[in-house]
Amino acid sequence: MVDVILGLQWGDEGKGKIVDFFAPNYDIVARFQGGPNAGHTLYVEGKKMVLHQIPSGIFHQNKVNIIGGGVVLDPVTLKRECDAVAAYGIDVKKNLFISERTNIIVPTHRALDKASELSKGDSKIGSTLKGIGPAYMDKTGRNALRVGDLLDKNFTSQYIKLRLKHQKLLDNFHFIEDISAWEEEFFEALEFLKTLNVINCEYYINNAIKDGKKVLAEGAQGSMLDIDFGTFPFVTSSNTISAGVCTGLGVSPKLINEVLGVTKAYCTRVGSGPFPTELENETGEELRKLGSEFGATTGRPRRCGWIDLVALKYTCMINGVTQVIMTKADVLDSFKELQMCTAYGINGKETKELPFQISRVKIDPVLEAFKGWNTDTTKIKSANELPSDMNNYIDFINHYIGVPVKFVSNGPGRDQIVSL
Ligand code: GDP
Ligand code: IMO
Ligand code: MG
Repeated sequence: MVDVILGLQWGDEGKGKIVDFFAPNYDIVARFQGGPNAGHTLYVEGKKMVLHQIPSGIFHQNKVNIIGGGVVLDPVTLKRECDAVAAYGIDVKKNLFISERTNIIVPTHRALDKASELSKGDSKIGSTLKGIGPAYMDKTGRNALRVGDLLDKNFTSQYIKLRLKHQKLLDNFHFIEDISAWEEEFFEALEFLKTLNVINCEYYINNAIKDGKKVLAEGAQGSMLDIDFGTFPFVTSSNTISAGVCTGLGVSPKLINEVLGVTKAYCTRVGSGPFPTELENETGEELRKLGSEFGATTGRPRRCGWIDLVALKYTCMINGVTQVIMTKADVLDSFKELQMCTAYGINGKETKELPFQISRVKIDPVLEAFKGWNTDTTKIKSANELPSDMNNYIDFINHYIGVPVKFVSNGPGRDQIVSL
């Protein structure tokens, strides 16, 4: 069976910490989509670690970690990360496996990402500039190089062909930056990549499941950034929702069991695009400060706002979420009053459904106020210690979205999580 942990908002919900927490219950942890645009933070031996390409189960000895075929892989980031992980005594040659179908991000993908964003001016996506969009375009355009191609004798000529194609596009964008240094480190990193375990992921994982092994699929980004169901065009380029697990790992939908959706107790977004509950005021500043809301990949300040139950109910629906994990509840500890968005006002009409034209219409969030709990919750270990005002806040969410909140995370540490 496969359980899934994924983000229900616009990313950075705390998936890394949650995957690290649940990993001991599984044999295999597998990333199924996204690439180094992800930044998953966890704490190992009290030290902060941010993972971009490697699954967040890597710090548990004897767990298999898989980079699935739905992922786009930057060999340079991977090499850097493998070195960082090795410093903790983790043997990636033993614990890390990469699907031969995984698409490779080449240096010109990064250049194209930058050129494309520059050309968009004010309407830019706010991409992480890691080459994600161009890499997935080459996948669907059927031009990509995949990890399994690395040992093919035609790899270099395939690379040159792709490089020339990209150069024409870059010339159109009048992109003139010298990327030869990027290429040098790219080729070095490819040599390293060749020394890692490359597998046929679909056979590996299905055989493991047949043998009774438990798989945890780790999502990147968030459901509101999904290429099909997010706030298009301000989205990423992959399917971040539970359906992506099947295409990203090669498992049947029938094998998916629990879908654990992660949401912050409030809401953040990094990059451009609609964000109905955004607070561009002192309260938003306060959330940013108390929640240390700065991007784990780019360091950009995250936009902050109240929790959006319209969007949350929608993402629970499209993912088939069976349990919700609410993170960063402690960030709200000192607020006297809290708010939740329970409907959208559009052209004078109220709706509880996410509109297709979310990027084009003005949304006035309908907000409901709640009393804050005004208690330090960071040391709480069990559900019966939670303040009653927090229980009221959670009960309202449960009732609205129709899926139970089963865990509350009350700090960034591994042990700061309460089971309800
Ligand atoms: P991810 O991309 O979903 O893995 O999330 P990020 O790592 O980008 O961002 C989440 C941030 O919140 C990280 O700095 C975490 O250390 C931190 N974090 C996770 N859970 C909690 C929590 O319950 N409380 C607080 N205060 N911080 C948390
Ligand atoms: P994790 O896994 C938050 C956002 C970018 C931008 C849009 C497109 O850490 O939650 P891309 O580089 O994918 O072309 O950028 O998506 N974005 C993320 N925001 N968390 C992430 O990952 C993100 N990955 C991409 O900011 O708005
Ligand atoms: Mg992140």
